[in-house]
Amino acid sequence: MRILSGIQPTGLPHLGNYFGMMKPAIELQEKGEALYFIADLHALTTVRDPEALRRNSREIAIDFLACGLDPVKACLFRQSEIVCIPELAWILSTVTPMGLLERCHSYKDKLAKGLHASLGLFSYPVLMAADILAYDSDVVPVGRDQKQHLEVTRDIAVKINELYGDVFKLPEPMIRDESAAIPGTDGSKMSKSYGNTVELFLEEAALKKKIMGIQTDSTPVESPKPIENSAILGIYRHVASPADYAMMEADFLAGGKGYGDFKKRLFTAVWENFAPMRNERKRIASDPAEVDRILKEGAVRATALATPVMERLRQAIGLK
Ligand code: ADP
Ligand code: TRP
Repeated sequence: MRILSGIQPTGLPHLGNYFGMMKPAIELQEKGEALYFIADLHALTTVRDPEALRRNSREIAIDFLACGLDPVKACLFRQSEIVCIPELAWILSTVTPMGLLERCHSYKDKLAKGLHASLGLFSYPVLMAADILAYDSDVVPVGRDQKQHLEVTRDIAVKINELYGDVFKLPEPMIRDESAAIPGTDGSKMSKSYGNTVELFLEEAALKKKIMGIQTDSTPVESPKPIENSAILGIYRHVASPADYAMMEADFLAGGKGYGDFKKRLFTAVWENFAPMRNERKRIASDPAEVDRILKEGAVRATALATPVMERLRQAIGLK
């Protein structure tokens, strides 16, 4: 089984990225041939600061390694180092109906947020299809927000297969939690673009500040607290044991405890959850040359997997 996923270096990884994508991806490295990449070409649709792009790409690699990605089992690389990807994206774009892309929520959402409507932003899902199809990927672990992009990938693959015979394998999405995205500090989906993130490796004081700043309603201390759509519970669910989670939920419903108390419990759980990884991160970050070596080696391995797929495609469509 070949497993593939990517993450954009548009900021530092946060709890939503970790529980939605990084953690499932790291667990999957035991189950098959895993390929994980830093989607720097995708990030160019929004990041205009070269230094930030470079820094975030490196930080994501370090975070992934600190969280348990094993570079021997899984292949970690930068998307931009795989030179056939833009070529593949072009070929795929020639069979992609405009309507398919016009229906994509993420494009419409990005425009609604005021992003410039560039051709790259519009064709973002085609580049993503190239990422997935280039390596004959079987499964793609992503958060729920990427589901539609995977459907577009399958539609494009089917189109190529109908036109040229069986060129591409159809990938399966693997959505960890169908129902819920991890909430941010304002209660909406945690996302770098909403300014509501809790990054994985904040210093203690900064983490405490973020968590104590989670928005809550004005239910008095003595009253029961609503559990639906609670950002505190939404995050706690992922970092606490089932028993601790059940206890906090019961305390919400019982009344008599304030949100400050719940936030402190949440802070402790987040801090402890990432404690071992925090130490590992320090060690990895102190050896930048090793991080570069891992990324380079990952790119070589990924290129070797994409080469026969590209050969097959070029042959099928008449470029060879
Ligand atoms: P962001 O929305 O912060 O820009 P990305 O789009 O870079 O995050 O997402 C990287 C990965 O993390 C994707 O697989 C995405 O589905 C997942 N992800 C991002 N935010 C969340 C969230 N709040 N809950 C669950 N998964 C998430
Ligand atoms: N679009 C994904 C995101 O914003 C990142 C990504 C790019 C990706 N290419 C991919 C994810 C291929 C999975 C497979 O999160």
